[in-house]
Amino acid sequence: MEPNPLRELIVGVNHRVPVRDGRKVVYANLDNAASTPALKAVKQEADQLLEWYASIHRGAGYKSQLASEWYELARQDILEFIGADPDTYCAIFTSNTTDAINRLARKFPVDADRSVIISWAEHHANDLPWRERGRVLRTPVNDEGWIDPDHLDTVLQREGRRARLVSVTGAANVNGTVQPIGELARVAHRHGIPLAVDAAQLAPHRAIRLNDMAEEERPDFLMFSGHKMYAPFGGGALVGRREFFDRTAPAVRGGGAVRLVEPDGVDWLDAPEREEAGSPNVLGAVTLAAAARELQRIGFEEMDQVEMILTRRLLQALERIPGSIIYGITDTARMQDRLAVVSFNLEGIDHALVAGVLAYEGGIGVRNGCFCAQPFVMQMLGLTQEQAFAFRDKMRNGHKIGIPGSVRISFGLYNTNEELDHALMLLQALAEGEFRDAYRQDPSTGAFHPADGVPSYSDHIHELRMEEPAFWAGRNHTRFP
Ligand SMILES: Cc1ncc(COP(=O)(O)O)c(C=O)c1O
Repeated sequence: MEPNPLRELIVGVNHRVPVRDGRKVVYANLDNAASTPALKAVKQEADQLLEWYASIHRGAGYKSQLASEWYELARQDILEFIGADPDTYCAIFTSNTTDAINRLARKFPVDADRSVIISWAEHHANDLPWRERGRVLRTPVNDEGWIDPDHLDTVLQREGRRARLVSVTGAANVNGTVQPIGELARVAHRHGIPLAVDAAQLAPHRAIRLNDMAEEERPDFLMFSGHKMYAPFGGGALVGRREFFDRTAPAVRGGGAVRLVEPDGVDWLDAPEREEAGSPNVLGAVTLAAAARELQRIGFEEMDQVEMILTRRLLQALERIPGSIIYGITDTARMQDRLAVVSFNLEGIDHALVAGVLAYEGGIGVRNGCFCAQPFVMQMLGLTQEQAFAFRDKMRNGHKIGIPGSVRISFGLYNTNEELDHALMLLQALAEGEFRDAYRQDPSTGAFHPADGVPSYSDHIHELRMEEPAFWAGRNHTRFP
């Protein structure tokens, strides 16, 4: 099998972790839809900035001015990354997608009569912030999690002038289904309503080129996170139309966002500064921009090729595992309709046990549960309302044994066939009944841990910090759940 040359571009991919049989194996992160490791180019830029930064925007010193310029160049890179015209759009730095959506939501005054339309396939980040602003309506999705533009049209017709925004995911985080963003924008715009796209999953995997889209198909707002696109945590972006930000009150208020402050009045700056009160996260912005540049340099087609080979193989292999249930698009001829995010279950085996076995037996990280998208997962699993209610009561009582969910494997540009083969071998063994007795379930979290104890993560951290053994010896050794 061909090695993956893109793996060279990522830091930390050869680190070994302990597994249950006492060996140490190279960790395989198959949970890239949650967070990706960093690109080498990103680390390099972070290292440089740590040596050169100083207060930005208000300092007269050389380092201050250098850091200010660095930050503004990062802003330009973000617009360039999605092909947004800087005269029309501006990039506001946020801490992640959740923060970006919350900031956008705060721009809409609370009004119980007005509505925001989302879909049934949203991450909680693109659902909860809208609830406090007014009514939230959900446009339906099919079993694959796909939003039908005709259904959106029907919702908007019914809602009429009460609708004020459509906000949908660019790709479902649960199962990778890519949404028809251009068509959804066309429908929303026909009704005179702007479209916001939660691009947390889309941005790292698909080239977004606003300038190449017809005006009526262009989203008005886009939000994404650095930690899902090979930059560290803490950097995110809200890109939107300047004109909207300039005519609405800032979502966050304080220094750096103002032209003039009088005891009883304030003159706000124009966007994006207007929306960035407080000292900005320069490191988050600069690393996000470094990732954006590097992803463009590598090329989306190149990355997609790697990710889709793995996805196709995973889908085909899962079909052969007895009792496997795959959610979403399974047809390997329709890879353009999906990202490399595969959600599945093994019949009769708790999704948390599958994730636990992959972690403790194989040093493989995957995600399980509801992926912060509980309403969609209930639909995806085909639960009746009664079943959903029963689980709701259980969860309210903090009892997480047997709660519904699935396992999610998601690939990044650096993953390999070997990593996938290792995961498949364990899934096959699980389906054949191995490992069950070696694990215990924690009722408060639903997670499975080996009955004979888990590694001491704090020891590992102290080791990484190169602390003196005398300082930390004896604390928190192997714990037993
Ligand atoms: C589609 C989608 N939207 C929003 C988020 C929230 O992103 P963050 O945690 O970076 O704010 C996620 C994270 O998984 C996501 O997948």
